[in-house]
Amino acid sequence: SKNGYSHFMMKEIYDQPTAIRETLCRRLDEKRHIQLDDIKLQKEDLDELNKIYIVACGTAYHAGLVGKYAIEKLARIPVEVDIASEFRYSDPFVDDKTLLIVVSQSGETADTLAALKEAKRKGARVLAITNVVGSSVAREADDLFYTWAGPEIAVASTKAYTAQLVAFYMLALHFANTKGTITDQEYVAYVDAIEGLGNKVEEILSQKETIEAVAKILVEATSAFYLGRGLDYTTAMEAALKLKEISYLHTEAFAAGELKHGTIALIEEGTPVLAIVTQERLAEKMISNMKEVKARGAYVIAIAKEGTPHIGHVADKIIEVPAVCDILMPILSVIPTQLLAYYTSTLKGLDVDKPRNLAKSVTVE
Ligand code: M6R
Repeated sequence: SKNGYSHFMMKEIYDQPTAIRETLCRRLDEKRHIQLDDIKLQKEDLDELNKIYIVACGTAYHAGLVGKYAIEKLARIPVEVDIASEFRYSDPFVDDKTLLIVVSQSGETADTLAALKEAKRKGARVLAITNVVGSSVAREADDLFYTWAGPEIAVASTKAYTAQLVAFYMLALHFANTKGTITDQEYVAYVDAIEGLGNKVEEILSQKETIEAVAKILVEATSAFYLGRGLDYTTAMEAALKLKEISYLHTEAFAAGELKHGTIALIEEGTPVLAIVTQERLAEKMISNMKEVKARGAYVIAIAKEGTPHIGHVADKIIEVPAVCDILMPILSVIPTQLLAYYTSTLKGLDVDKPRNLAKSVTVE
């Protein structure tokens, strides 16, 4: 049931603190070490690997982009990410030294399942991250990571996405610990930080009026842009998909450094530009990109980590996100973008939970 919420999507947005905690805490032993019972991959198997491929569709693909970043940074294994419908027809470089990680909330997406089978045929080992116990993807995989987000009913994925991010952070930590690429102190600090994310998500949810006010601006727009760099670019892609999917507002995500290579021509007086600024070493660059679009008339909305210097001088509106270490910021920065999509859709009087032309799970090609 909707549990008193007006729509499943809103309920599921509010389920996120619990989904994050469940996915992590039920797998911590008394020493606060991550125990992954359905992952059979041993140290020898990890040492044999020369590459990880992450394959998925839509929102799950965006989770994979964050997963690449976490695994490469913490476990130092090279990772490629591809869209399942591209991967399956691309004769990919996959062999018995490849680990394929498939990500699928439903576990029934046709292209993801076909990609899994193609990689298996080429000898790869398959690890599945899925939310549905006993789903097709779960049955075909060698190793399994269940996100414990609970059933997701709304077509737009929210809590499954944040739970997938938790899954990737945990896998990255588990691999890193097994391979010895991080110290015990770092390991413990990350586990603590992930555990604290639920409370920080709650803090963001309590700012929903500020976010609804920004949605009123988007309702009037004919197109909008999300900008980001590094992990914030990944969040920008996920945010743009969500806004398009349920509010039908034409939205594009751009790597902020690409603006000058074409996109900036689209900025007109009043065009909403949503800049995601959570990565410390990239913040200054983002601020100069925000100045560039503002000089062309853009209405600049910043979704920024609290305490980001100088942001107040360039943004017309700021949505602040609590600070955690940069690598974990995608879990927090995506929350306001989910609410923005939700409010833009409801303010337009649209069917949030069942947007036109879409199905919850795409079981045909
Ligand atoms: O069930 P899956 O995770 O395999 O679904 C993948 C996509 O179809 C899904 O994430 C889709 O992009 C969402 N509707 C986005 O909100």
